Amino acid sequence: MNKKAVLPRSFRVVAPGRVNLIGDHTDYMGGLAFPMAINLATTITGIRSGPKIELHSDQIPGELQISLPVTEPQLVRPSWGRYVAGVAAELGSTEGFVGKVSSTLPHGSGLSSSAALEVATALALGDTGPPLEVALRCQAAEQAATGVPCGIMDQLAIISAQAGHGMLIDFASQSVTALPIPEAAQFWVIHSGEGRQLVGSPYVERRVQAESAAAVLGPLPQADLSSINALSDQALRHRARHVQTECTRVSEFAAALLHSDLEQCGELMLESHASLRDDYEVSTDALNSLVEKLRTTSGVYGARLTGAGFGGCVVALADPEVTLEGWRVMPSNGARMEWLEA
Ligand code: GLA
Repeated sequence: MNKKAVLPRSFRVVAPGRVNLIGDHTDYMGGLAFPMAINLATTITGIRSGPKIELHSDQIPGELQISLPVTEPQLVRPSWGRYVAGVAAELGSTEGFVGKVSSTLPHGSGLSSSAALEVATALALGDTGPPLEVALRCQAAEQAATGVPCGIMDQLAIISAQAGHGMLIDFASQSVTALPIPEAAQFWVIHSGEGRQLVGSPYVERRVQAESAAAVLGPLPQADLSSINALSDQALRHRARHVQTECTRVSEFAAALLHSDLEQCGELMLESHASLRDDYEVSTDALNSLVEKLRTTSGVYGARLTGAGFGGCVVALADPEVTLEGWRVMPSNGARMEWLEA
């Protein structure tokens, strides 16, 4: 990383949230996913301040005050500040800023508000590294701040997104391919009414189960279904089947989207939801009824839970004429720094 980058005295950093169109619980297993950055974002405006970070949020009470360098980000209060502190610790920052953080992203909804805050902080602290390196540092920061072994999808999507495109990510090679979203494809994000957060959720247990299956079968995205179906442990068999079939669906979705075959995209989203519900067991009654309602709504091609599950949001693919009760999301640019004063 270029830790000696020339930084503006005052700045604004905008980091979008992301919606994952298809491919959940595949990133930490070396699989495929297809997220898209959205037009809901977290913004930090700040002024350089010497060896400290001071931030207040327009959404959550409690001023964040951190002395740099940070050594124990997991102890920082208020707790949202742990993401900020985690990034500062990863970067070994000794120069910080005073400012405010505002967001149009709903917290705890599966739209990656925490990853947006991490990436915004990294850019605010002068991280000018290649997108993959910034994403790896932010992922490490989140893991240190929360103790949850999250994958890299959210941070990588947020830093490398391109307006008008979704990002096909292969986590085995950590490569990102931007694919255009056809104008006829309108995505909506609809909240289930249930909040969710990774801390304290069965995310870790799911990951451990998928890894146990991979210890027997080898990389799950390439495992053959007959070997998966021969696993005697039912939970491991189901987790492995989800990862394997979900990766196939991501490839098929990318191909269908390129051909503007929205019927097929919607079908694959519904199959993905069923697999997350039945095989990975990360859905909830509220998410299931929402997907079911959308499935029978005229002009909707398909819908699925998005992100980790356990509550949060559903993503739906609909005809542009249709209006749903949620956020009409547009494929947006990745995180960026704007200089306000040199
Ligand atoms: C969360 C994690 C990601 C990914 C998704 C599930 O958003 O942060 O790394 O594992 O869940 O696809």
